Amino acid sequence: MALRKARRVAVLTGAGVSSDSGLPTFRDAQSGLWAQYRPEDLANAHAFSINPLLIWDWYLWRLEDCRRAIPNAGHLAIVALEERADLTLVTQNVDGLHRRAGSAEVIELHGNLERARCTACRNVQILGPVVALARPPRCTLCGAMLRPDVVWFGEDLPRLALETARAAFTSCEVALIVGTSGLVQPAAGLARDAKRNRAVVIEINPLETALSNITDYALRGSSSELLPALLE
Ligand code: APR
Repeated sequence: MALRKARRVAVLTGAGVSSDSGLPTFRDAQSGLWAQYRPEDLANAHAFSINPLLIWDWYLWRLEDCRRAIPNAGHLAIVALEERADLTLVTQNVDGLHRRAGSAEVIELHGNLERARCTACRNVQILGPVVALARPPRCTLCGAMLRPDVVWFGEDLPRLALETARAAFTSCEVALIVGTSGLVQPAAGLARDAKRNRAVVIEINPLETALSNITDYALRGSSSELLPALLE
């Protein structure tokens, strides 16, 4: 009912929303070649400085996985919801699936795998076909090595994105927390911002999370099923 009446809705998604598109979440064990690594061992500037090729191989492997993935009914339900309410979509995901599903505005707190940033001149460019890329990928402007345009552990989030996200969660009437373990700050703090401002906080996740204790409603199940049902 709260969602039906809400004029302003804020949505925070995590890797779980893309799980039914076949993309592993961060807390799932990694598969195949990468089974021996933990994401936190790879997604950091120190690992990149020691072995940029290994880190690029991991990101390009994930990028190709993301490009093969298809947005699921959960992504599409969020697009439909955008047409019915003043909705701000904030994601921790770097897979680009919300945009591909048709979401007009996506606040990407942790960056996007399709983009790379130059380690020298800071030029940001879109990564084209992986086969055409040098190893490691080079800046088209100055030729220096690129790095993935994602936020690594210990790095600051893009300031404007975080400020916009905070403004949305402190002024919404309903906050939907979808497919995130709520373990990583400052993204997880957005749910508390909403709670502090008396929004109705709804969690969609098959499991309990670090945020379950502040949610008003917990819908236990897959977002690809529950988001369309909620929309109905
Ligand atoms: N539908 C909804 N939720 C799901 C589904 C599903 N089908 N499948 C799994 N989940 C839930 C899991 O129960 C878990 O709570 O998705 C959550 C995924 O949690 P994480 O793997 O921790 O991913 P996330 O919360 O997005 O991680 C946040 O941590 O590693 C960093 O920067 C990285 O953005 C990432 C951040």
